[in-house]
Amino acid sequence: MSDSNGIVLRMENITKTFPGVVALDNVSIDLYKGEVLGILGENGAGKSTLIKILAGNYIKDSGDIFIDGQKFEIKGPAEAMSSGIRVIYQELNTINNLTVAENIFIGEQLVKGPLKIIDWKGMNKKAEELLAVMNVKLDPNAIIGDLTVSEKQIVEIAKAISQEAKILVMDEPTAALSEEETQSLFKIIQALKTKGVAIIYISHRLKEIFEITDRVTVLRDGKKVGTLKTKESDSNKLVEMMVGRDIKDMYPKRHVPIGGVVMEVNNLGAEGFDNISFKLRKGEILGIFGLLGSGRSSLVKALFGANKIKNGEIIVNGKKLRIKSPGMARDAKIGLVPLDRKIEGLALMMGVKENITLANIKELGKSFLIARNQERRKAGNWVDEIGIRTPSVEQEVNSLSGGNQQKVVLAKWLESGSQIIILNEPTRGVDVGAKIEIYKLMQDLCEKGSSIIMISSELPEILSIADRIIVMSKGRFTEEYKICDASEEGLLRSACL
Ligand SMILES: Nc1ncnc2c1ncn2[C@@H]1O[C@H](COP(=O)(O)OP(=O)(O)OP(=O)(O)O)[C@@H](O)[C@H]1O
Ligand SMILES: [Mg+2]
Repeated sequence: MSDSNGIVLRMENITKTFPGVVALDNVSIDLYKGEVLGILGENGAGKSTLIKILAGNYIKDSGDIFIDGQKFEIKGPAEAMSSGIRVIYQELNTINNLTVAENIFIGEQLVKGPLKIIDWKGMNKKAEELLAVMNVKLDPNAIIGDLTVSEKQIVEIAKAISQEAKILVMDEPTAALSEEETQSLFKIIQALKTKGVAIIYISHRLKEIFEITDRVTVLRDGKKVGTLKTKESDSNKLVEMMVGRDIKDMYPKRHVPIGGVVMEVNNLGAEGFDNISFKLRKGEILGIFGLLGSGRSSLVKALFGANKIKNGEIIVNGKKLRIKSPGMARDAKIGLVPLDRKIEGLALMMGVKENITLANIKELGKSFLIARNQERRKAGNWVDEIGIRTPSVEQEVNSLSGGNQQKVVLAKWLESGSQIIILNEPTRGVDVGAKIEIYKLMQDLCEKGSSIIMISSELPEILSIADRIIVMSKGRFTEEYKICDASEEGLLRSACL
């Protein structure tokens, strides 16, 4: 039974500390039946920690949790599950060597008959139905390891909604999703709401917060700043609450003179795309927009030597290159900030400083001692410059918040002085304050003579920061826009061609 106010969940005065950090300091939230409560806050504000406590992954230092008015001690994940709490985590939790259906039903396999034989057919069918609700065609028998990041995310969502949830928590569920998939997810959320499910929705995308939440709680530095009704708030107000200062210009586009061609791609083809040609100029930010399966990530991988090129050519500074490995791309001064930082971008068990200087080991290799000091200084500079929230540069990257991990990957490539920098969703999971810093940095780099290829599925971002946008669909370029001719509608239309 819900208590008389319809409050399903109350977390009261929750405090949690880690060595060197107070992740949560006396934070309280209420969650009502059938509502969506947004949680907003900068990277490292404590959002994920709060929900990990709810999910039984972390044990709080102090504070109380009430479910349906009853005090409830969550001692571990099993207890959280048994009281109807389901979480879609920020970091993907899919198991790579299992199939889609196995992942969805892990721990709760369907069984049939008196012998309780695992009902593979039934699971595949149910998985197919769940995926159909998300509007995606995924083979339930496909191996997770072969899927893209966004497909994995969809599997995670399908898994959470396959189980009857009373409280559903989504920690940045759309970070890897396209606009279209996000809309499908929102339809599901609406349906769950009408069934009375209470939902906590964490996102850095204000547009989504306004679209889907009923109320918003803002955290800053582990403290609750306040809770507002979404209808009564606006983005200026929320951003101010988040960062503690007024932000005037979300997209500070500067005029950077654009020079000659630095990279020329002719009729390039590889797994996932074909017949791609474009030119990238010095000082330019070239945007690439496309929906899931458009081939944008395959293209990026090919340019970086991580996807075998079948035909066509890449010319950098007038020289034809055979890029067969990321090492060769690096030698050609091409850098990549990948989509899935966990797999492709970071050495999670190493420290912040090793990660930032990882791409430049050769240069630092002169003398061990000098290298160590240089490493620390260089990493320290980046920590200050883009505001990486970490107790020290020695901290294991593993224990940083999601957005701060992203900043470390970015710092690594900024530090490497690459001439051509490819950014695949650079601000995914990054908070508003840091986003602005990243946009500024991108333009600093261009001013210093670098060129940038930016893949982004955030329309406002790509429209504001790119100088030119190429749209991909089904492995091909469908349209090229000068920034003055580009619009949200136009890009979406070209992405569906
Ligand atoms: N396991 C851990 N060990 C040490 N510190 C941790 C651990 N988990 C979280 N922290 C620290 O607690 C703070 C809050 O992190 P949390 O992951 O909750 O932030 P967040 O609001 O989810 O940020 P983001 O938007 O980047 O995901 C950060 O300073 C983070 O470094
Ligand atoms: Mg988080």
